[in-house]
Amino acid sequence: MEYKELFKIADQVKENAYVPFSKFQVGAALLTKDGQVYTGVNVENSSYGGTICAERTAFVKAISEGKRQFSAIAIASSGGEALPCGICRQFMYEFCPELDVITGKDENSLRVQPLNVLLPEGFRLEKE
Ligand code: THU
Repeated sequence: MEYKELFKIADQVKENAYVPFSKFQVGAALLTKDGQVYTGVNVENSSYGGTICAERTAFVKAISEGKRQFSAIAIASSGGEALPCGICRQFMYEFCPELDVITGKDENSLRVQPLNVLLPEGFRLEKE
């Protein structure tokens, strides 16, 4: 799938964000290596700390459906280009340090950066 298309999906799904506090909508579209797309939005909470970002929502949906291999994630927001927060970078790094992270204010100004550039020397427990 074209990254432009993936970004458009993220941009559309951001309308489902639950953001009564920040009013900042974020949508994510996560592409698996086998070509499926899982979407996510940010879901805020009165406790603030219970808030989950769009990127982690998409990952949690995919992981819980048995997916483990990912090639790219597109992120769109209501406030221009949104780069993933530090918690999301670490969360995604667990599964795919080489993930392409696609951001931009619209589909005609996309940036593609590997996750391991956005999070150099990320932490991971040794895997066999
Ligand atoms: N947020 C995301 O969903 N993803 C990001 O990459 C940055 C921040 C959310 C969290 C919160 O609901 C709102 O944006 C403002 O921080």
